[in-house]
Parts: sequence; structure tokens; C-alpha cells
Amino acid sequence: MTTFFPADFAPAGLSPVEMAKFASARRASAFVESGMRVGLGTGSTAAWLVKCLGHMVRAEGLQIRAVPTSERTAQQARAEGIEVVSLQDVGWLDLTIDGADEFDPALNLIKGGGGAHLREKIVATASDRMIVITDPSKQVATLGMFPLPVEIVPFGWQATRQLIEESLLGVDVGARKSTLRMNGTQPFTTDEGNLIIDLHLGRIGNARQLSLVLNQIAGVVENGLFVDICDTVVIGHPDGRDEVIDLIPDLESLVDAGGEDNIFKDIAD
Ligand code: A5P
Repeated sequence: MTTFFPADFAPAGLSPVEMAKFASARRASAFVESGMRVGLGTGSTAAWLVKCLGHMVRAEGLQIRAVPTSERTAQQARAEGIEVVSLQDVGWLDLTIDGADEFDPALNLIKGGGGAHLREKIVATASDRMIVITDPSKQVATLGMFPLPVEIVPFGWQATRQLIEESLLGVDVGARKSTLRMNGTQPFTTDEGNLIIDLHLGRIGNARQLSLVLNQIAGVVENGLFVDICDTVVIGHPDGRDEVIDLIPDLESLVDAGGEDNIFKDIAD
């Protein structure tokens, strides 16, 4: 069923980038079906998704149980009338839809610009499928221009930061600057009460290797690289168009394809 979103849902005068975010969220909301357990991302694009799903709950009777990736998304989802549950309650999720700060051709991501990447990664990896919603500006050939967030525990954080900086000497990156994320004059704290070190790397040569190196350091809780987690990216455009990039193979078309290259040929026969 195609959802009708009224004209005032995305009011005239929205900036082109907000229009693009709405277009991606609207398209992604069509992947959500009644009965699903859905992970809800964090950030301005995910906020559009929560708004769309809230409309579908109220106008169409969509029934979902949602696991938010941050306190602010939980608050918005409840206000929209979406049933909010914990990951412990449902155990596993059918689908997670979230924004991203960068995505590359393999659909590897940098996330955590909003400081929520720890819960976002837990929720996304506990899902059958992760869909990223985005405007075109997040598409890159190589990850790394956006600062890579690393969540660390407050205890001994300066030593952890030093170890992070030393670990960067052994990996293929374009630059090696780190900053403690601030919230005004105070260090920014995550929903888990941790700190964030942002790594200004310029270019990340090997995202998988860097992610493993960072997560081996004592005091590091999680970094913002999502490698082999995202299955689908929905890009919205300022004119309301959308495009879907999907890594999940279309099994039916593979079976239909026939020929020697068809790995399902025996099954099809
Ligand atoms: C939150 O921590 C992030 O991972 C967001 O998903 C990411 O920063 C995208 O946010 P926007 O949709 O606001 O750009």
C-alpha cells in the first residue's frame, strides 16, 4: 500500500536538503510493514522517518514495535504515537532505518555525528536488514572527510586518546588529528555517559582494518565505522525523487536469469 502524505506534511519553503531528507524517509517508510520490529535511527533524516511512521500509525493503523537508538528519538517516537519497546523486549529486529554521515560504494558508513553510533550499531547489527536514508551530500568515493567518532569511557580518557592517536600511525589514513567533542564548555556525553573523540582523518584507506584497530584499545567502546552492516541506501533528492541502492541480491531475478552463471540453476531446474 502506498501511503498518502498530505501537502502540509513537508511544507513549502523547506530547504532543498530538508526536502531531500524527507524524500528519502518517505521512500524508506514503504519498506515498513505491520507486525515488524523496527529500529529507529537518530538525527535529522531519521526524524523525518519517525514523522512518516507516526503518520502511518495514526492514518493507516500501521502496527509496529520500535526500538529507538537514542533518548531523543524515543521521545519523538512516543509523541508520534509509535509503540516504543526495548531491544531486550523484542530480542531481534526485522529492519533498522537510520541516517549516516558518509557512505561509500560498498555501503560502508561513517556514523555518530549525533553521538549515537554505539546504540545505532547495536541496533543495526541486531536487525535482519539495515536501510540508510540520506540526501546526496553523504555519498563519497572514500570514507574519511567526515570526522570519525570514537566513543570512549570517561575513566582515564586522556590515556585512551593517546593510545588512539598512536594506533593511527600504523594505518592508512590521510591525516591524524583528534579532538574531544564538546557541548559548549563541557565535554559532550553520550546516552551511555561516555565521551567522544572525533578523528579528523581526511581519507580512510581501509575501514575494516581501522575499525578493528580502534576497537582493540582499552577504553574504546565503539567507533563510528559501519562495515558490512548496511544493506540498502535510499537517496532522496531536493526535487522529491528518490533512488535505492541495494546490496541484497534479487533472488527471483537470479533464478530467472538461467544460463551457466546462474548459481541457483540447479534449484531452478
Ligand atoms: C547520529 O549519531 C548519526 O549517526 C546520524 O545518523 C548521522 O549523523 C546522520 O545525521 P543527519 O541525518 O542529521 O545528517
